[in-house]
Amino acid sequence: MTTKKHDVIVLGSGLAGLRAAIEAAKNPEIDVGIISKVQLMRSHSVCAEGGTAAVLNPEEGDSFELHAWDTIRGADFLCDQDVVMRFVQESPKEIMLLDHWGVPWSRRPDKRIAQRPFGGHTYNRAVFAADKTGFFEMQTLYDTLQKYPNVSRYDECYVTAILIKDNQFTGVTVWDLSSGDFLFIQGKALVIASGGACRMFGFTTYSLTATGDGIAMAYRAGLSLKDTEFVQFHPTGLVPSGILITEAARGEGGYLRNNKEERFMEKYAASKMELAPRDIIARAEMIEIEEGRGFEGPDGLDYVYVDLRHLGADKINERLPLIREVAIKFNFIDPIYAPIPIRPAAHYFMGGIHTDIDGKTPVEGIWAAGEAACISLHGANRLGSNSTAECLVWGKIAGDKVAEYASKQGAFPDVPAETEIKDEENRIFGRFSADAKESAYEMRHELQKIMDSEVGVFRTGQGLEKALKKVKELEQKVPAIQVRDQGRIYNTDLLSALEIDNLLDLAEVVVVGALARTESRGAHSRRDFPQRDDENWLKHTLAHYTAEGPKLEYIPVAITMWRPVERKY
Ligand code: FUM
Repeated sequence: MTTKKHDVIVLGSGLAGLRAAIEAAKNPEIDVGIISKVQLMRSHSVCAEGGTAAVLNPEEGDSFELHAWDTIRGADFLCDQDVVMRFVQESPKEIMLLDHWGVPWSRRPDKRIAQRPFGGHTYNRAVFAADKTGFFEMQTLYDTLQKYPNVSRYDECYVTAILIKDNQFTGVTVWDLSSGDFLFIQGKALVIASGGACRMFGFTTYSLTATGDGIAMAYRAGLSLKDTEFVQFHPTGLVPSGILITEAARGEGGYLRNNKEERFMEKYAASKMELAPRDIIARAEMIEIEEGRGFEGPDGLDYVYVDLRHLGADKINERLPLIREVAIKFNFIDPIYAPIPIRPAAHYFMGGIHTDIDGKTPVEGIWAAGEAACISLHGANRLGSNSTAECLVWGKIAGDKVAEYASKQGAFPDVPAETEIKDEENRIFGRFSADAKESAYEMRHELQKIMDSEVGVFRTGQGLEKALKKVKELEQKVPAIQVRDQGRIYNTDLLSALEIDNLLDLAEVVVVGALARTESRGAHSRRDFPQRDDENWLKHTLAHYTAEGPKLEYIPVAITMWRPVERKY
């Protein structure tokens, strides 16, 4: 058995993971290991486009209270308000820090950092670098990481399990995809920052690799998941690929139009129009399509348009060069001259691993940050540009806390028995049975089909029951997945089998939570329960793993300043 050890292990190399690693590594006594199933700059965070929210200019009219109120109202009151207040206060510090580290933020004519409008925000507070914000933030964090000799990287290494003994983190088992080795990496503390799980949907803005592995492993290891029924559908996924057409397209003035050329948002959110929160726009688009005011698309992907033509070539080239390139390369459409076909695409997991306000989980030594975590910042619906900000803010907080924790710990926890690691290795590489007949690819396709059709923008009890039945049927097939490639090096066939297992576990949690929640709130819209029901449902869902399926319990929402009111835009 190959064993390595690091004081702090960071699982995931996206924005939250890198920010956590840098913060932990500031203590030269702390040895940090970052483990990622992809090469660092291939983390899904590089796909973040439109911006990072922060209050930068209070003297011009923005304020922490305004940012907090926008976030809380956007969340349909399901977020914890103490978490939100901390977030809005910390986010500007992260922007300035990244400015000093070298992010090439777009600038105003007076050279100050520029900010653009984003949905649900009442002030222009999305800081941006053209429409490649995530890419530049990632590159800057990567660059900054080079300053720390006490950081080791395990790129293209797949964590197979998080090990916990007596409620104490002990380490992770890892399959090194490039060498085929199986390792145990011992650690005093862990930050899970491995992203969300929207790849359980077919039409999604997610990278193919973002399959919720860290969340699923945490869940199976005994950590509870919070509010997973809340999945965000971004209003502008490019048809048919699902690639993100950034909200900045609307922030810069783009219009949404139906097949009658109408700016249909007038009917749904007259005061905010194309800059209403995402849940509201996604529903509006689906209603337009269902009522025959969309366009027929391939494979049932009917669509409406986002129209940028009136912005002109200069603005599109300066502010939105990436989406222009994407529209040209993937759809042969130049947005300077033609509207872009879009529809709602699964984009963000509001739920995740349950943590406290510091990102700490109830297991000693384990923190979570970024999309993998549910710190209860976004509630039932996240505002655009609050996610990259969250990654930075809680990456920093978690990094700081784990370093402090690890330095106080002294000795490493005990190494598990060699047989335990061997059993895990056998679980992973013992999947090469000749009798196995099921295809992980077909299973993934079936899962995505049912999630798209029954667990999408609108849901019903009947549809969710159907989805649950399908998910359970697919779960039964997992032991019989055929893995044709019997090697250990870059075995993507085996990786696909592990990923579908993770996606199915998480899909079950999403569906069970959605079935139980008999109300409509934020992104969870039940046609059979169309009203928000604060009396019964102003509470967080917690899902605990059991062999029979998720067991749900509910915990209160922290309401510190603003009582829930009707949400109107
Ligand atoms: O549309 C976008 O650029 C996405 C931003 C976000 O999800 O925060």
